[in-house]
Amino acid sequence: MELAFVYVLWALCLCRSSADVSKLKFKRALNPVRLFNEEELRKYDGSQEDLPIYMAVNGVVFDVTKGKEFYGKDAPYNALVGKDSSRAVAKMSLEPEDLTSDTTGLTDEQLESLESTFELTYKTKYRIVGYTASRILKEDFRPEDQPNFWNKDEF
Ligand code: HEM
Repeated sequence: MELAFVYVLWALCLCRSSADVSKLKFKRALNPVRLFNEEELRKYDGSQEDLPIYMAVNGVVFDVTKGKEFYGKDAPYNALVGKDSSRAVAKMSLEPEDLTSDTTGLTDEQLESLESTFELTYKTKYRIVGYTASRILKEDFRPEDQPNFWNKDEF
């Protein structure tokens, strides 16, 4: 009889602990981030009213929807969104050939300007929603060092 009681208690404990484990497993990060390829990022270029507007700088994808007056459809900086526009931001240019993540050949001054706009405008003003494939393929990329990176499974 006593043995049966101990067994029931043990079974109950086992049940509860496995329930807790499954809770932990499915708990979502507050702000999960994701990986974007070029085609996926292009969807968020402000042309669809029901979608947020995303823009990548330095391979980090920001939700710039709250800056709709800059980035929305027909707004002055709409050309920058739905893609990684690091080169354009560095050069303060909206020329089609600068709408790319490629920063080769930029001057030190342009690279510094890119870094400060990245840190002081984008990272302070907009929520990070993910990273571009080109960024994570860089050899020095460490997911755990990225801002807002809380869930390794996202990659
Ligand atoms: C005659 C030319 C331009 C003028 C007068 C101008 C003016 C401005 C002003 C007033 C702001 C600040 C808006 C605010 O914070 O309320 C701003 C922000 C900005 N400008 Fe320009 N701009 C010019 C050209 C450009 C060009 C060519 C680029 C190309 C990349 C550019 C990129 C940006 C960006 C990325 C921001 C930050 C927007 C944000 O806060 O999300 N601007 N501009």
